[in-house]
Amino acid sequence: MHVLVLFAHPRRRSFTGELADAFCQGLQGAGHSVEFADLYAEGFDPLLDDGQFGLETAMDPLGPRPADVQAEQARLERAEGLVFIYPFWWSDVPALLKGWFDRVWSYGYAYAYEADLSRSTRLKVRKALALCPAGHTDDKLDALGLREAHRRVMVEDRLLGVGIPEARLELLGGLSGNPAEVRQQLLLCAKALGEGF
Ligand SMILES: Cc1cc2nc3c(=O)[nH]c(=O)nc-3n(C[C@H](O)[C@H](O)[C@H](O)COP(=O)(O)O)c2cc1C
Repeated sequence: MHVLVLFAHPRRRSFTGELADAFCQGLQGAGHSVEFADLYAEGFDPLLDDGQFGLETAMDPLGPRPADVQAEQARLERAEGLVFIYPFWWSDVPALLKGWFDRVWSYGYAYAYEADLSRSTRLKVRKALALCPAGHTDDKLDALGLREAHRRVMVEDRLLGVGIPEARLELLGGLSGNPAEVRQQLLLCAKALGEGF
């Protein structure tokens, strides 16, 4: 499978970056081809401006979208698998990645309403994964309902909700204080997730 990995952390040499490396190593070991996109390093502009706001709300599926959005969508066209790797910030994706959804999941591409009001999509991705390290422990993420909250938003709405047939979240807790044994265990986990993708 050809897999597009979208990495959203300002620091490539972070623990999230190490997780991304381990995951990609697993993917490649299993024979998948990988396209790695570092959204911060590429300078992706996450702000949906007045011009694109007009296009989105006009609900014209053929209205031309900005060139950078078209470039993101062209890269998606090549992918059967889609993986987001990002840190858990204030119980959500970093703002840059939220803006990626605002702009790239555009009307007429990620979703459109048909005459009978059903939703359609032009996305061809078959399988998606959100891989996200978090500071809170797994127990705390569960006790506060944060894992389920993020799964609903990220998986049910942003991925399954636009017609991707298979999607899941791996929220990997326990990174506050940077414990070496937790990091090591999570890197193995990320590699195994890549192998099993
Ligand atoms: C701005 C910011 C917000 C954060 N918000 C949360 C949060 O809401 N929940 C949580 O569990 N961890 C939170 N964290 C901790 C990060 O998720 C954790 O440090 C990160 O996953 C570790 O990866 P890194 O070293 O690659 O950044 C936050 C960290 C930062 C810098």
